[in-house]
Amino acid sequence: MSEIAARLEAAGKEYKTGESTIVALQPTTTEFRKGEITLIVGPSGSGKTTLLSLLGCVIYPTMGKVWVGDTRVNDLPERELAQLRLRQIGFVFQGFNLLAPLNALENVMHPLLLQGVSRHDARKQAMELVRTFGMEERIHNLPRNLSGGQQQRIAIARSLITDPQLILCDEPTASLDHNSARMVMEMLSQLSLENRAVIVVTHDVRLKKYADRTIYVSEGMISDTAIEEEF
Ligand SMILES: Nc1ncnc2c1ncn2[C@@H]1O[C@H](COP(=O)(O)OP(=O)(O)O)[C@@H](O)[C@H]1O
Ligand SMILES: [Mg+2]
Repeated sequence: MSEIAARLEAAGKEYKTGESTIVALQPTTTEFRKGEITLIVGPSGSGKTTLLSLLGCVIYPTMGKVWVGDTRVNDLPERELAQLRLRQIGFVFQGFNLLAPLNALENVMHPLLLQGVSRHDARKQAMELVRTFGMEERIHNLPRNLSGGQQQRIAIARSLITDPQLILCDEPTASLDHNSARMVMEMLSQLSLENRAVIVVTHDVRLKKYADRTIYVSEGMISDTAIEEEF
């Protein structure tokens, strides 16, 4: 049995706005294992980003419990939550979110510098990773001088540089053309082989073929079976 990278136990999220309460995610129990890539699909507004944000320790649950590895994150103060994010979780976004004034290599180094690693060591590690991604010719480029597919490869390298056990991706292929999207998904499914859990939120059910598991979200409820498949 492979190790569990993250777990929800009856964890859910409500937002209170004025008089009304929106249940963004109903109480949810599930776990994510290392070595697996999981796709989270569902329509807009169904709760996908909320689920990912709970796993990413970006928001606290309003009910239930959340674990990342062996750490129960509910009661951790903000500071420790930030440390946990930095050490154990990698994020990949639709808009790449690279730092515009930094070149490709500096972007990959950045999380290590935040952890207090020396520039010399950070550069060395980042170079190694960038090389395995076939991006060594592009290290001096600013993000705006890279294609979308190249930016996303750099963003994935950046998410990996701290060797996190959990990689969380929100619509990572949404702004990419067909070929770049395929390359990014192949890369992400490769990463899940290496003792980490990869979780990918997407609108696109065509990406299902890259996943070990698909979770469907509908109106804040998750299910391992597609709604359509029930009929
Ligand atoms: N910060 C917030 N404040 C209030 N409502 C929110 C907030 N974030 C999300 N929601 C609501 O929670 C529901 C789920 O949102 P979200 O998780 O972003 O869905 P998805 O990523 O599937 O599009 C939606 O109804 C959304 O409007
Ligand atoms: Mg979303």
